[in-house]
Amino acid sequence: MSKPLIVIAGRHGQLGQELVQASVAYDDAFIFLFAGRYELDLGKPETITAFFEKHQPAYFINCAAYTAVDKAEAEQEAAYTINAESVGMIAQQCHKYGCIFVTISTDYVFDGKCTRPYQINDATDPVNYYGFTKWVGEKLALENNNKTIVIRTSWLYSTRGNNFVKTILRLMKEKTELTVVSDQIGCPTYSADLADAILKIITSLEKGNNHYGIYQYSNSGAISWFDFAVAIGDIAKLSCQVIPVPTSAYPTAAKRPAYSVMDTSQIAKTYGIDIKDWKESLEDCIAKISHAK
Ligand SMILES: NC(=O)c1ccc[n+]([C@@H]2O[C@H](COP(=O)([O-])OP(=O)(O)OC[C@H]3O[C@@H](n4cnc5c(N)ncnc54)[C@H](OP(=O)(O)O)[C@@H]3O)[C@@H](O)[C@H]2O)c1
Repeated sequence: MSKPLIVIAGRHGQLGQELVQASVAYDDAFIFLFAGRYELDLGKPETITAFFEKHQPAYFINCAAYTAVDKAEAEQEAAYTINAESVGMIAQQCHKYGCIFVTISTDYVFDGKCTRPYQINDATDPVNYYGFTKWVGEKLALENNNKTIVIRTSWLYSTRGNNFVKTILRLMKEKTELTVVSDQIGCPTYSADLADAILKIITSLEKGNNHYGIYQYSNSGAISWFDFAVAIGDIAKLSCQVIPVPTSAYPTAAKRPAYSVMDTSQIAKTYGIDIKDWKESLEDCIAKISHAK
C-alpha cells in the first residue's frame, strides 16, 4: 500500500525546520513534501488550487505565517492574506480532496485579561492585528474543512531562526546588563517539542483517531519574559545582569496580551501528547545551540 503524503508549508521557519528533522523518524510511514514560499506562496492565495490539484496530499500541515507581530500593524493586507485568506483557501482545498488540515495558531487570539490558564473555549479577543489575522485564520480553517486541527501555541523558540532565546544569548555576550519586560506572563514552547507533538497527532489520526477542532500546546509553566531571560542566562552560564521593566518602558507598535498561559490538558488527553516542563526544554535547546558551535 502506498504511503500517505504529508505536505508541510513554511519549511524554512522555526517550526518547519524542526519538522524537517523530526520527519526522518517517520519516513517508513509517510511521504513528506516540504514547501517553502517558492513552492507555495501564501501571499498568492490564487495559486493554492493548482498546488492541491498537483499534489493531492492526505495531510497538510501549515507552519507558514506572517509572524512579524509589530510590522503587521502597518502591513495589514499582507498579514491578512497570508494568515487568514490563504488559510481559508487551503481548508477549502483540503475539503475538496479529503485532506486533513493541521494549522498553527497563537495565544495572541486572547486579550490577556485572564488570571488562570486560557481554556480552548474561552472568549477570544485579539489585542493586535497579527492576533486578529490568526483568529480569522482559525475560523476559516474550521469552517471550510471539517477535518481540521488548529493548534494554538505560544512563545516559540528553537535552535534556528530569530527568536527570544537566540537574541538573549547574543545580547548577554555583548552587554553587561539587559532590561526585560516582567509584566507579560506566558509559556515558552520549544519548536522541537511541538514538531514531535504534530507528528504524533498525525500518526494517531492515521490509526483512526478523528478528534478535530482546536487544541492548545505549549511547554508547561507560567513565566514572564524577564524570568525567561534570567533562566537563559543561568543555563548558558552568562553573567549579564537582567533588570525587570514594565511593558510601558518598552513601547511597541503592536500591543501584547498581559497574560496568555493556555490550558494544554486537551491535547495531552486526546492525543497522548507529553507536555514537557519549559525549563527542561530550554536546557535541551541551549545544549544543542552550544554543541553546534
Ligand atoms: N514565533 C512565535 O513565537 C509564535 C507564537 C505563537 C504562534 N506562532 C505560530 O506558529 C507558527 C510557526 O511559527 P514560526 O515561529 O515557526 O514562524 P517563522 O519562523 O517566522 O516562520 C514562518 C514561515 O512562514 C513563511 N512564510 C511567510 N510568508 C509566506 C508566504 N507568503 N508564503 C509562504 N510562506 C511564507 C516564512 O518563509 P520565509 O522563510 O521564506 O520567510 C517562514 O518560513 C506560525 O503559524 C505562527 O503564527 C508562532
